[in-house]
Amino acid sequence: MLREYILAPSILMADLTCLSEMIQEVETAGADWIHLDVMDGHFVPNITMGPVLVKAFRQVTKLPLDVQLMIKKPERYLQAFADAGADSLTVHVEACTHLHSTLHMIREIGLRAGVALNPATPVEAITEILSLVDLVLVMTVNPGFSGQTFIHSTLSKIRRVRAHLDELDLRTRIEVDGGITAQTAPLAAAEGADVFVASNAIFNHPDGISGGIAALRSSLSTT
Ligand code: DX5
Repeated sequence: MLREYILAPSILMADLTCLSEMIQEVETAGADWIHLDVMDGHFVPNITMGPVLVKAFRQVTKLPLDVQLMIKKPERYLQAFADAGADSLTVHVEACTHLHSTLHMIREIGLRAGVALNPATPVEAITEILSLVDLVLVMTVNPGFSGQTFIHSTLSKIRRVRAHLDELDLRTRIEVDGGITAQTAPLAAAEGADVFVASNAIFNHPDGISGGIAALRSSLSTT
C-alpha cells in the first residue's frame, strides 16, 4: 500500500518578520503540517518560542500545528499549548520523568501525542509507551538548531522503531527531523518514516519555498 507522506516545514529558518506571508507560501506550495520548534534554553542550548507565538501561527493557518516541546518538564505547559491552538504535542523522552502520565495527559486534553528520541537515546526507551502515541519523532540531528547535517546512523533506528510498531500492529507515524533534504528524505522513507520536518531545505532552497517543497515531494514520490 502506498504510504501517505507528510511534509511539515519547520519555521526556524523562515523570515519571521513576515510570518503570515511565509505561512501562506508554504500552504500554497502544498505543505501538510506546520512544525513548531519550542526550545527553552535548558533542554537544548537555544531559546525559540512559547504559547504566544503558537497562538499567532494558529491565527494565520488552518494547517495542523505539529508542536515539538524541546523543554524540560513539558507537563507544566501542555494545557497552555493546547489553548494556543496546537494540534499535536511531541515531548522528549529525555525530558520527562513520568512519560506515561505526560502522554496520557496530552490525549486527555484532546491532542495527538508524540514522543521524540534524541540520536543517542535507544528505541528501548519508548517501547513500553508505543500504544500511547500517534507519532514517534526520531531526531536525525542533535536538537537545538536548524541547518545541521543528517546523522546517517539514525537510519537503523527508524527501521527498528517501524519494526516495533509493525509488531504491535500500530499505524503510528514516524517523523524525522534534522538535515532532511531531497537526498536524505528518501533514505528515511525507505526505513519507514512518513512525516518529514525540514527548515533549511525549504526556506533556503535556491528555487524558493515552492521549489524546496516540490524537491522534497518529488524525492519521496519514487520511494
Ligand atoms: C532541531 C530542529 C531542526 C529543525 C529542522 O532542534 O528541530 O531540526 O526543525 O531544521 P533543518 O531542516 O534545517 O535541519
